[in-house]
Amino acid sequence: MGTESGTSSGGGTMRLLITAGPTREPIDDVRFIGNRSSGRLGVALADEAARRGEPVTLLLGPGCVRPTEAGVRTEFFETSNELRGLLLHELANADVLVMAAAVADFRPAARFGGRKMRRGDAVSIELEPVPDLLAEASGNRRAGQLLVGFALEPREELLESARGKLERKKIDLIVANPLETMDGESVEAVVLGRDGFERRTDGAIPKTAFAPFLLDLITEVRRARSA
Ligand code: CTP
Repeated sequence: MGTESGTSSGGGTMRLLITAGPTREPIDDVRFIGNRSSGRLGVALADEAARRGEPVTLLLGPGCVRPTEAGVRTEFFETSNELRGLLLHELANADVLVMAAAVADFRPAARFGGRKMRRGDAVSIELEPVPDLLAEASGNRRAGQLLVGFALEPREELLESARGKLERKKIDLIVANPLETMDGESVEAVVLGRDGFERRTDGAIPKTAFAPFLLDLITEVRRARSA
């Protein structure tokens, strides 16, 4: 299966770090701000990578489907801050980061009095921005690392918005999906890269079929770079 270990760039084995699923940002001891991400796409990617014999670590959010392949090393997070800690720890050992997690953009600035909100309490929730974890990862990247992000956008502004994120976050590839992809079974994606690189799925395809599509593409881009 060609699984030499320790290869850090180029065509051979690639060590993948994949994030998947939603974050939960606590409001009080029982409530949180979350999102509809199922984690399915990131988990499908991790399973496919393991089937190919690639070393893969999956950072997985709450309430998600679990990987089925024994080769997937899984670490769990709930909050964006926990995910941030795991990324800081794991990133140095990865050749490729696939950031499929739906990370919160805002979180409550403080937990409600450290307890449960009660009916009759005067409530207003102040939000603060969550750091952009992918932009942080690209700021800390080492040479040869390939970073892949996702962008869920309304169809009318899909490509323009995704290209903006590719540039702003200084990453290598971005998977642009229309909003309906979240929580859905299928993906109709355009993958954008540097220098006008653009690749489309053949219409809407199941998330399990998207996994080999994206991994083939990542392998191709890494090969082209090391040539
Ligand atoms: N992302 C991240 N950290 C965040 C928010 C998003 O790392 N706090 C990552 C996501 O995992 C995804 C990419 O950035 O790979 C794009 O996420 P998205 O929410 O679409 O982009 P934002 O930068 O949050 O832009 P906006 O909310 O303005 O659309």
